[in-house]
Amino acid sequence: MANEAKTTSEYLLEVEHLKQYFPVRQGFHTVMLKAVDDVSFAIRPGETLGLVGESGCGKTTVGRSLLRLYQPTAGRITFDGKVLLDTGEQYDENGRPVLDASGKPVKGPAIEPDMFPFRRQMQMVFQDPYSSLNPRMTVEDIIGEPLDVHKLYSSKAERRDKILELMELVGLNAEHAMRYAHEFSGGQRQRIGIARALAVNPKFIVCDEAVSALDVSIQAQVVNMFEELQDKLGVAYLFIAHDLLVVHHISDRIAVMYLGKVVEIADADELNGSPIHPYTLSLLSAVPIPDPETARHSKRIVLEGDVPSPLNMPSGCPFRTRCRYATEQCAAEMPPLSDRGDGHMVACWNK
Ligand SMILES: Nc1ncnc2c1ncn2[C@@H]1O[C@H](COP(=O)(O)OP(=O)(O)OP(=O)(O)O)[C@@H](O)[C@H]1O
Ligand code: SF4
Ligand SMILES: [Mg+2]
Repeated sequence: MANEAKTTSEYLLEVEHLKQYFPVRQGFHTVMLKAVDDVSFAIRPGETLGLVGESGCGKTTVGRSLLRLYQPTAGRITFDGKVLLDTGEQYDENGRPVLDASGKPVKGPAIEPDMFPFRRQMQMVFQDPYSSLNPRMTVEDIIGEPLDVHKLYSSKAERRDKILELMELVGLNAEHAMRYAHEFSGGQRQRIGIARALAVNPKFIVCDEAVSALDVSIQAQVVNMFEELQDKLGVAYLFIAHDLLVVHHISDRIAVMYLGKVVEIADADELNGSPIHPYTLSLLSAVPIPDPETARHSKRIVLEGDVPSPLNMPSGCPFRTRCRYATEQCAAEMPPLSDRGDGHMVACWNK
């Protein structure tokens, strides 16, 4: 079978032309909300890709679609050399759909393997440690559940040893095993959630606003723990957050999203120091600068207007209604992500 064949790639995860549309009722009509619209990126083993953008731009939907918690509308995803999803659409070298003689998109066979074996390799840690863990379960049972589902022990003693090992890994005390999730602070609950995600020894974790609900001092501890775990275990992260300082700290590379599209991807320092896309520039200029001297000399770019509704997307470039560099071409066609050197990818006609 095609999906059994392993291909070699420097990437652990490759996402191509991912689309996630949701049918939404509007009066008597059903319209498509394009939460994620033609997104492509890749993540290397042991790497952290940060994903940033304003609320509602589609970050969580990307994470959930990757894990096939939603049924993606279209796209191709490969993980560890195996196809995890392929809806069959064909694209040319410029990223445009291949059309047949009658102008219809050409489609190959769809591939949708069973997700169960992938579930062990791909995990998700959620924003709110208060609602994502069952308060009536003990820590031992929360961490033990994925071990049970995937049958990862041969005796009760081995199960317990594994749970204690995981608790130690995330800095939890062995005496906490029999206590209930509701007895813990936010930071400790997030550690329980991470131990649970690590129980199946995954290669990839989607961290969706995993530190956003925590106090700033606790945030730093949990972010450091994510980094230490990565060094120890070689796990790759898609680190979703709206706090650019946190994302810059933890990420090797950063992808910027606007209205369901990725508009820029670059090495984290490069993106922070030399952003190219007009949206990234305004996003970065809104970050508070800790040094007052630097702050005095920097020009803040204030975005005009609101983010358009994803139910009523502008034609062409999604940012054109707020962009001061917009030209006619921007309304006609979405610019492709193009490489500006060293893998710094930007989707803009005029920058
Ligand atoms: N299950 C769903 N059904 C319909 N619309 C949805 C669904 N999930 C998300 N959306 C819509 O898709 C868009 C993207 O939502 P998403 O939650 O992915 O954004 P986000 O970038 O994670 O935002 P935030 O920073 O607030 O978490 C939004 O307009 C949202 O209302
Ligand atoms: S493509 Fe046009 S509208 Fe979009 S960001 Fe670039 S200049 Fe602005
Ligand atoms: Mg979200």
